Amino acid sequence: MTSQATRNLATFTLHDGGGVPLVLLHGFPLDHRMWATCAQHLPPGVRAIGVDLPGAGHSDLDGFPPSIEHAADSVYRTMVAAGEGNAVVVGHSMGGYVALALAERHPGFVAGLGLVDTKSTADTEEARAKRLRVAAAAEASQTVDAVLGMPAALVGATTTKGRRQLFPVLDSWIRAQSPAGVAWAERAMAARPDRTAVLERFDAPVAVVVGAEDSITPLAEAEHMVRAAASPSGYTAGDAALTLVPGVGHMSVVEDPQAVAAALGLLHAQVITHH
Ligand code: MLT
Repeated sequence: MTSQATRNLATFTLHDGGGVPLVLLHGFPLDHRMWATCAQHLPPGVRAIGVDLPGAGHSDLDGFPPSIEHAADSVYRTMVAAGEGNAVVVGHSMGGYVALALAERHPGFVAGLGLVDTKSTADTEEARAKRLRVAAAAEASQTVDAVLGMPAALVGATTTKGRRQLFPVLDSWIRAQSPAGVAWAERAMAARPDRTAVLERFDAPVAVVVGAEDSITPLAEAEHMVRAAASPSGYTAGDAALTLVPGVGHMSVVEDPQAVAAALGLLHAQVITHH
C-alpha cells in the first residue's frame, strides 16, 4: 500500500523582501535552482520563494498518483502552512501548468499569474505517448538517461552558439533529479487538460513571457494565453501582458535572467496596484 501522507514541499527564499511574495515554480526536469539567478535580479523588496514540485529537487513523492492538480494543491498547502495568504504565482513551462491549476483550484490565493515559456493548451496524443515512453524508460532503467539530451532542445540557437557555459549547469540539474520524480512529472503533464478557460476567468494581472527562440512552447502559445487573459471577463494587464525575450529559447529564465526578472518585477508592481 502506498502512503498518502500530505507532506509540505521544499521551499527556498531566493530573494528577500516583504508583502505579497512571488512563488516561483520550476520547469521539467529541473528544480527551484533554475530560478536562483533570475530572482537575484528582482527589484529590491520583492520577496521570492522557490518551490520544488513533488518528486523534484528536495521534495519527495508522497504516494499520490501523478497529477498537476496534486502538485498545485501541494504548493497551496505548503504556502498556507507557511502563513502565506496569497502570492503572485509564476511558473516556467511545467511550473506554468501547475500555476494555471492553482488559479483554477485556489483562485483566492493567486493574486497574479506569471506564465513563462509555457502554454495553457493540453498535449497532442503524440506528445502524450512520448511522455509515457520517457516515464517508462526512467522507471525501467532507474536513471534519468531518457531526459539527459533535453538541454539542446531547451535553449535557443543563440545560447547554443554563445552561452555554452549553461550546458553543464543544465546537465547537472537534470542529473540530480530522481527517475521516479521524472516519471511522475511526465505522467502528470500527460494527463493535464486544456486550461485556457482558467485564464479567461482569471481576474487579476497576468504576465506572459516567452523566448523568441522557444521551440517547445513558442510565441503562438504565448499569444493564445494573452488573448485568453485579456478576454472581457479577465483583467487586462496592458503593455506588460506579453514580453518577448530576444535571443533566448525555452529556458529564458536561465538564458536571460535579467529580462525575465524585469517582466516579473513589473507584474509584481501591477499586483500591488491592483490590490
Ligand atoms: C518544461 O520545460 O517544463 C517542459 O519542457 C515542459 C513540457 O515538457 O511540456
